[in-house]
Amino acid sequence: MAKQIIVLFFLSVYLVGCGFEENSSAAAVPLSQDSQTVTNAEFVWQLPPNIAPPFVPENNLMSNEKVTLGRFLFYDKQLSANASQACADCHQQDKAFSDGQVTAIGSTGIVHPRNSQTLVNTAFNHSLTWNNSNLTSIEQQIVIPLFGSSPVEMGLSEQNKNSVLARFQESPHYINLFNKAFPNESVPINFNSIVKSIAAFIRTLNSYNSAFDRFQQGETNALSPSAQRGMALFLSERLACTQCHSGINFNQPSDTVILTGNNNIFQNIGLFNVDNQGGYPLGNQGLIEFTHLKEDMGKFRIPSLRNVELSAPYMHDGSVVTLDDVLDVYSAGGRFVAAGDKAGDGRINPFKNVVIKGFSLAEQDKKDVISFLNSLTDKEFINNAAFSNPLVSSQK
Ligand code: HEC
Ligand code: HEC
Repeated sequence: MAKQIIVLFFLSVYLVGCGFEENSSAAAVPLSQDSQTVTNAEFVWQLPPNIAPPFVPENNLMSNEKVTLGRFLFYDKQLSANASQACADCHQQDKAFSDGQVTAIGSTGIVHPRNSQTLVNTAFNHSLTWNNSNLTSIEQQIVIPLFGSSPVEMGLSEQNKNSVLARFQESPHYINLFNKAFPNESVPINFNSIVKSIAAFIRTLNSYNSAFDRFQQGETNALSPSAQRGMALFLSERLACTQCHSGINFNQPSDTVILTGNNNIFQNIGLFNVDNQGGYPLGNQGLIEFTHLKEDMGKFRIPSLRNVELSAPYMHDGSVVTLDDVLDVYSAGGRFVAAGDKAGDGRINPFKNVVIKGFSLAEQDKKDVISFLNSLTDKEFINNAAFSNPLVSSQK
């Protein structure tokens, strides 16, 4: 039936896009080989049978002990220099691990240029963050919120890092957790272990139990008639959403898009045109900041649409408020910004992907597409006790 065709469609696109790269070496904290005896084969992933476990780097194999430690650290404000902010402040479970802010605010009050990303099936991403194509492992990425100075997030530095480590070295609770997670290390409490254990925790944040998933598995009434009509629109050639939001996480481009250039998981959807030559606002210009190629202006990573209902506001800069507004942008074929320092006609941005052409959408059609997008919300994921704050229930 139509349903099976959809499954095949999503899976085939997913598989095409699936080539994980080995880690490159941008990390400020070198990741040493640890001598964990637990292999991935022994780790029990909480994944449905149709989803293969994600890539895990050889030097950071999964173990329950690492995941437990990583979960405590993720929620602990003691991990920031001034002890005011945890990873979880910008990545909140009830918001699919985003934060509801337009753009993030770091531990010292500095405003981040970009919107906090969701942490949903992050282990399956080919690269990390909105526009950096060089970050290919979660371990590399985590160093940035910990040690980054522009912008400051958790505020760690060469000067203060030992005093932050001391907080954990003095806690019997953490000494125990680190010893269990890194049993073969002589000094288990160090930044390598911190990064590795948080990465292991993030690899468990997987969400594949939305109404959409249940529908795919044959539960025909899991989607309302409106959501089913919305799905048909989403899959239609006219709306072209699946040209970019394909695959099992709705973040893989189609073959057609793949053929139009390199770095195809990064796309320009015509949100800005500040100089009439396709320019995006300074400080948020996308992939070009890393590749320095003109054609990469305004290209940002195609976001997953899983749990998108929970992660407003939208886009790399949080500049689109609701899903209704998102659909207005797409139906206009981009965004016209009438006034202010970001004024310009994104609809005619020369770097915009050609499939963003605009379309007309009746009010009911719009509602239907939104109910389809809402069907990607996974309530089990946002209520999963294994992902929640362990500090409220432990002695700490
Ligand atoms: C001040 C808010 C803030 C804090 C604190 C923070 N993050 Fe983030 N996080 C962000 C923002 C903003 C992005 C997008 C960054 C970008 O595109 O440049 C992001 C992106 C990420 C990503 C990439 C997700 C993806 O799909 O590519 C991961 C992983 C992540 N953060 C993990 C963490 C961890 C672990 C911590 C704690 C060590 C942390 N974050 C602390 C705001 C924050
Ligand atoms: C050419 C590729 C492309 C097409 C086609 C496309 N998108 Fe997107 N989508 C993206 C990119 C890239 C972003 C992020 C853009 C940015 O932040 O600058 C995005 C962002 C979004 C967001 C915001 C998600 C978030 O977490 O902020 C939603 C929702 C969305 N798209 C839905 C759709 C729908 C619905 C369609 C069809 C009408 C569609 N997209 C068509 C590439 C595409």
